Amino acid sequence: MKYQNLLVHDESQIRHIVINRVEKLNALNKPTLAALHEAVKDALAEPNVRGIILTGAGEKAFVAGADIVEFATFNAVQGRELAQEGQTNVFDIIHHASKPIVAAINGYALGGGLELALACHIRLATTYAKLGLPEVSLGLIPGYGGTQRLTQLVGRGKAMEIILTGDMISADEALRAGLVNYVVEPADLLPKATHMLQRIASRSPNAIAAAIRAVNAGLAQHGFETEIKEFGKCFDTPDFKEGVSAFLEKRKPNF
Ligand code: COA
Repeated sequence: MKYQNLLVHDESQIRHIVINRVEKLNALNKPTLAALHEAVKDALAEPNVRGIILTGAGEKAFVAGADIVEFATFNAVQGRELAQEGQTNVFDIIHHASKPIVAAINGYALGGGLELALACHIRLATTYAKLGLPEVSLGLIPGYGGTQRLTQLVGRGKAMEIILTGDMISADEALRAGLVNYVVEPADLLPKATHMLQRIASRSPNAIAAAIRAVNAGLAQHGFETEIKEFGKCFDTPDFKEGVSAFLEKRKPNF
């Protein structure tokens, strides 16, 4: 397979990128992020591709976050590098992509998984999707742009609630908050995403790319830099050790 942990195919000028690590609820480990980098870049460079759908394999998860096992022993420097590399190589490329990218949220979209959906241009969710940024329960904060993109999308008050409680919200609550554009039945998720991308594909590709650049221009870069710095610092705290140990031991953390 060309891309590790991804299933990739084209359907009527739309590239489907499916994150395929079902047994770990499609959690983003290093090889998956590297493959996503390549797959998105390839799709953007392919003239026949007019839009991208990003979704998760299986019936349970879009993406349940960054791979906690992989960063369990990281220190502040490694934590900061993790956020910086991920943002530069994957999340920023998606955010600034010249072609429209739709996240088809087919289940859990948590932590880095929700951040991945947030980096996309449009989000659709199934009725049973659950969304959240649970990083504070690991002694961390979102590190892939979530503090910035969620705030821009739903406003400071709702973003604070979602980030500070770490609680999951339902698809309907996400719709009310403006976090997703539509909520549909599972069978309608990909058809709805395809329909939207086909509408966009009928417009001027040059104008679509220009519109994406203009809409994106409003987000201040220093917010992302602060997030990376703060995310890194969390790794040197006892709370992080306790949060990650609790996850690995399948118990509640005691902060
Ligand atoms: N990183 C690494 N492994 C993960 C993971 C993640 N973010 N999310 C899930 N997994 C793994 C689990 O450890 C489990 O592996 P195992 O079978 O080897 O024990 C497998 O995926 C299935 O998950 P499980 O927890 O058994 O499923 P569940 O239905 O009981 O719970 C969730 C689903 C999403 C509520 C739960 O997996 C969860 O809380 N995941 C972490 C979410 C998170 O904190 N994400 C942010 C990371 S920054």
